[in-house]
Formats: sequence, C-alpha cells, structure tokens
Amino acid sequence: MDLVRKTFDEWAINGRAELMEKEHGKNVSNFLDKISFDRPFTFLDVGCGNGWVVRKIASNTYCKKAVGIDKSKKMIQQAQKNKKNSNEEFLHTNVESLKYRGKFDYIFSMESLYYAESIEVALKKIFKLLKPGGKFFCGTDFYTDNKATAKWSEMMKLKMHLHSKKEWKELFKNAGFETKTRHVKDLKSRKKWKREFGTLFIIGKKPKKESSN
Ligand SMILES: C[S@@+](CC[C@H](N)C(=O)[O-])C[C@H]1O[C@@H](n2cnc3c(N)ncnc32)[C@H](O)[C@@H]1O
Repeated sequence: MDLVRKTFDEWAINGRAELMEKEHGKNVSNFLDKISFDRPFTFLDVGCGNGWVVRKIASNTYCKKAVGIDKSKKMIQQAQKNKKNSNEEFLHTNVESLKYRGKFDYIFSMESLYYAESIEVALKKIFKLLKPGGKFFCGTDFYTDNKATAKWSEMMKLKMHLHSKKEWKELFKNAGFETKTRHVKDLKSRKKWKREFGTLFIIGKKPKKESSN
C-alpha cells in the first residue's frame, strides 16, 4: 500500500486539497506572476493536487498545453471535475512512471517532490521531460533551514525527505541542472516561518547543450 497515495486520496475528499490551494496560493502566485511567459509554451505540474496551478497557467494566452499529474487518483478526479480550459490535461500517474509524448518548456512542483521514493530518480525523470533550455520550478516549505517545518514528517506519519537549501542545490546540480534559488516570504502572515523563511524555490535550468559527462 502506497501511504502517500492513501493520505492524499483522503485529503482530496476531506477538503484539505482546497486548504492547500489556500495555504500555498499566495507564495506560488507571487513566484509564478514574476515569470515572463512571453512566447508559446507547454507546462507540467508534478503532484498537481486539485489542479489549481494548471488552471491558473492554462488561462495564460501563450499556454499551448498545461498538464497536471498526481499519484492520488482522487486528486486527479477533483482536478478533472474543476477543468476550465480545453488546453488542460490531467493524468493519474506518479512522475517516475509518466509516459508522455513530447517535452515541456516548464515543469513546476509545489510541496510534492520530497514525497518521492527517491528525489534523485524523480529529478532525473524531470530533467528528461524538459526541452533543452527548459526550466523546473520546485517549491518547498519543508527544508532544514526552516526549523518550524521539521516536525511535519512526524505529524504526517509519512516518509518525507528533509534537505537543506544547500543539499537541494546539490541534488539539482547532480541531475544536470544549472541551479538558482529564491525565497518567497509572506510578510503579513500570522505564521512566523512564513514571514522569516517562506517558501524555498529551487530553479533548475536544463542547459541548451547537454554536457558529454
Ligand atoms: C502536499 S500535496 C501538494 C499539492 C499541490 N501541489 C498544491 O500545492 O496544492 C502533494 C501532492 O503530491 C502528490 N505526489 C507525491 N509524490 C508524487 C509523485 N512521485 N508523483 C506524482 N505525484 C506525487 C501527492 O499525491 C499530493 O497530491
């Protein structure tokens, strides 16, 4: 039994999917609204939950296709139900075994990658799914530097990979990415960690020319 899938199947039906949308919405929008999507592009959301980011991105005039994948079937059912645009597509699969014809200009993931069986394997797959020059935006609130979140794994009763910002950068570098990071804080939040640390975004760019190593 996959405990991650079971947990998020439950969250999809008990209202916590919408709560995540609310909890993550401000920082994610703050981050995504600064990206200039100024030419036609394709987009993949890994661990899309109820699909709110896919719906947001799909409404951009330049978006040719926005795909959301999730290993929770119930999350994908919610996303399908809430579909708004014809360029949205939702698939029930984990990223590790996603089979997709074509590659993406942008891949996004919020609070999902650290649930993967192996972050290294998931990152390798994401790297493959990107076009040369394509970018992966990975948001996480759960990282060592943000001490308040360290107890989440115990609360969730799930295996969650906890890494520092330095370790995340190393993981991305080892997968072949050129890497940058950005913290998005919410200075008006009632939560101290949101004001002081916020969401860590690791931004990986797939080089235009792959190295021969
Ligand atoms: C904390 S939720 C975040 C959902 C959404 N990104 C959001 O911000 O509302 C994590 C989601 O990632 C999904 N997930 C975890 N590991 C995954 C994997 N390896 N492949 C695809 N989805 C995964 C879970 O089923 C869950 O719906």
